[in-house]
Amino acid sequence: MDVLVAGSHGQVGQHVTRMLAESDHEVRGMVRDESQLSDIEALGAEAVLADVTEDVTDAVRGCDAVVFAAGSGGEDVWGVDRDGAINLIETAEEQTADRFVMLSSINADSPEESPEELREYLNAKAEADERLRESSLTYTVVRPGALTNEAGTGRIRTGADLDRKESEIPREDVARTLVAALPMESTYGRTFEVLAGDEPIESSLESPVSEE
Ligand SMILES: NC(=O)c1ccc[n+]([C@@H]2O[C@H](COP(=O)([O-])OP(=O)(O)OC[C@H]3O[C@@H](n4cnc5c(N)ncnc54)[C@H](OP(=O)(O)O)[C@@H]3O)[C@@H](O)[C@H]2O)c1
Repeated sequence: MDVLVAGSHGQVGQHVTRMLAESDHEVRGMVRDESQLSDIEALGAEAVLADVTEDVTDAVRGCDAVVFAAGSGGEDVWGVDRDGAINLIETAEEQTADRFVMLSSINADSPEESPEELREYLNAKAEADERLRESSLTYTVVRPGALTNEAGTGRIRTGADLDRKESEIPREDVARTLVAALPMESTYGRTFEVLAGDEPIESSLESPVSEE
């Protein structure tokens, strides 16, 4: 597949871009800052300059799939996390990039379970996820817990409503989950949470317990 990674220079996005470049997929990494283009090329990807809040038609053109790993970091949740994501979803629909894997967040559908300062962000993510689920695209919505920079273990747990007692997951394992999910039909049309766990990523994705 030809895969566009939005947020390619982000902490999860760089793992995703590198993993895709090392796989059989062709990868196009989207950045909004020209100075980051060479970093994306160094990861083995084609680099493209675009901002999710603006026209992304050229970035999406020719791609089969999109991985949305961009995020506002709390700066502009409605503009980036909701409307930027929806902009990419709608452009993917227009451009026939049929596959869309969304990096969402745990508690997107239950913001009251998170601290007050995260709730606006979670509401924005929930609206983007909803638009994706209503789209014509073959989607997967992946909702990780708190991201860490620990080395990935290759092992996760997935579910519709996971026990939050140990609610972290390394960014590297989130990236591996997004990349592994891309071609796996068992994840099509699914929304699920993901946390660090004991099950190998691929086998956990063979039967992800989903909200739908
Ligand atoms: N942190 C957590 O614990 C947590 C938990 C669950 C889910 N998540 C989700 O995971 C996402 C990725 O996490 P991360 O740690 O990889 O975040 P990150 O390092 O902040 O990466 C976000 C990327 O998005 C890019 N971006 C921001 N606005 C953009 C725009 N308008 N157009 C194009 N790209 C844009 C940023 O580019 P610039 O360098 O140009 O800013 C950056 O490369 C978060 O955004 C969040 O939605 C996070």
